[in-house]
Amino acid sequence: MSKNNYYITTPVFYVNDIPHIGHAYTSIASDVIARYMRLSGKNVMFLTGTDEHGKKVEQAAKKLNLSNKDFTDKNSRSFSNMTKTLSISNDDFIRTTESRHKESVCSFWNKLESSGNIYQGTYSGWYSVSDEAYYSESEITESGLAPTGSPVEWVKEESYFFALSKWQNQLLEYYNSYPNFIQPKSRFNEIVRFVQRGLRDISISRTSLQWGVTVPSNKQHVVYVWLDALINYISVLGYPKRNKQFAAFWPASAHIIGKDILRFHAVYWPAFLMAAGVSLPKVIFAHGWWTNKGKKISKSLGNVIDPLKLINKYGLDPVRYFLMREISFGHDGNFSEKNLIVRNNSELANKIGNLLQRTSSIAHKYCNGRVPNVSDICINQIYASGAFKNMAYLIDKNHEYIESFSFNKILNNIIYISDQANISISNASPWLLVSSDPDQMKKILYSMLEISRYLGIILQPFIPHSASKMLDQMNVPLDQRSFCNLTQEFALKPGLLLQKPMPIFLKI
Ligand code: MSP
Repeated sequence: MSKNNYYITTPVFYVNDIPHIGHAYTSIASDVIARYMRLSGKNVMFLTGTDEHGKKVEQAAKKLNLSNKDFTDKNSRSFSNMTKTLSISNDDFIRTTESRHKESVCSFWNKLESSGNIYQGTYSGWYSVSDEAYYSESEITESGLAPTGSPVEWVKEESYFFALSKWQNQLLEYYNSYPNFIQPKSRFNEIVRFVQRGLRDISISRTSLQWGVTVPSNKQHVVYVWLDALINYISVLGYPKRNKQFAAFWPASAHIIGKDILRFHAVYWPAFLMAAGVSLPKVIFAHGWWTNKGKKISKSLGNVIDPLKLINKYGLDPVRYFLMREISFGHDGNFSEKNLIVRNNSELANKIGNLLQRTSSIAHKYCNGRVPNVSDICINQIYASGAFKNMAYLIDKNHEYIESFSFNKILNNIIYISDQANISISNASPWLLVSSDPDQMKKILYSMLEISRYLGIILQPFIPHSASKMLDQMNVPLDQRSFCNLTQEFALKPGLLLQKPMPIFLKI
């Protein structure tokens, strides 16, 4: 893959359920990265989609008396609608029931089989339908549940196995050579310890259900839903064809997932890929889980948070902002509407919104609604000031932070910049200088507008709609809104007409 290309994915979501805050979180975080990389000049491919096979989905369809096809069509649509409602900028949406995907799964299976990584046997052990996962006796809790708390059933059936155990050493060597492969570090350590304890071969086909991709060499079996689902990341690029799209974007730059599905991505997926002779993704990042009043979110507890309801109530950008700002990516956090309101009011409205609102109101009052007519020398002085140098430093830092997906650190820097700007405008009180020192008044105003231009540009990945309204208000041309435009060369033109100040960030 060329250095300038960037391929980012979300998990494919199970369609047994409707979208909840967990799906929204993974999607928004991946979207922030995709948008950030595009603004950095990268050629981005961003994938999301739905995971539609397996027992869990089959049972959910049965419960509603719907055919598998009607059920998955309907629920996949709620996920593609969710991506639109959240303004997710995905380039493709894969459904694992599409033929382009099923063909890839068959080729991948054939490759595993012909390379001697698959053998036939009988699986007997525990299976959790809600996790779509096999568990060993030692993992079952005293109350007879999976370690995740999900119910399990005893399964005994003919099955194909993937020879995972023989990949143990290669996996460990790989982790050792690429310490950033699994992030954050705590998850990396967890996986290394798990693999060091020894790997068992895993069952990769089922005979007790039909809803899946049929094993090419044996029509009695369907492919295990996790093997099927993981392949989405390459089926969308045209695997097994090593065409232009595949060459351009594989290996993926990052798979963004939740911590609950780390083992599938950081152990099984790399082993499958090694066995099939396909290179491994560069980074697997496992984020934490949101809880509701400290409790795990689940349908049975009735405490599910509906992202669409939140958006109807508060608007999209405050929700996107809150999810990225409130907790450090990789950690768990408690979801609180109260905190969402506080973040919105104290940061978006009082800091970012206030700065632009104040500066453009002053410009309308004292400069005929135009960018103040300052000289080139004055702009040079502004750019040489400590405030501007510090802003450039913080933006450079942000470009480092995005590499480790430290969204809240990036937002912290952005809020700091606006905070400092608000303080300096209050201290300098330009409105008092209108007649005594008009040049100084213009200089302060220009510098604040220019900081607002910077803020508008760097906020785009997080709050795309509000950020573009900020830039519209300053009439920043559409083709000058990338990170490469954060220089003096693209500074606001003195005398440029501004739009009427309109409140962009409303207090809740
Ligand atoms: N279908 C599999 C993924 C296959 S990828 C090849 C799956 N789907 S899921 O719909 O159950 O979960 C999707 C994502 O939502 C996971 O990354 C999961 O971690 C995330 N979340 C589900 N509940 C969550 C929270 N309460 N908080 C944050 N994210 C959580 O797993």
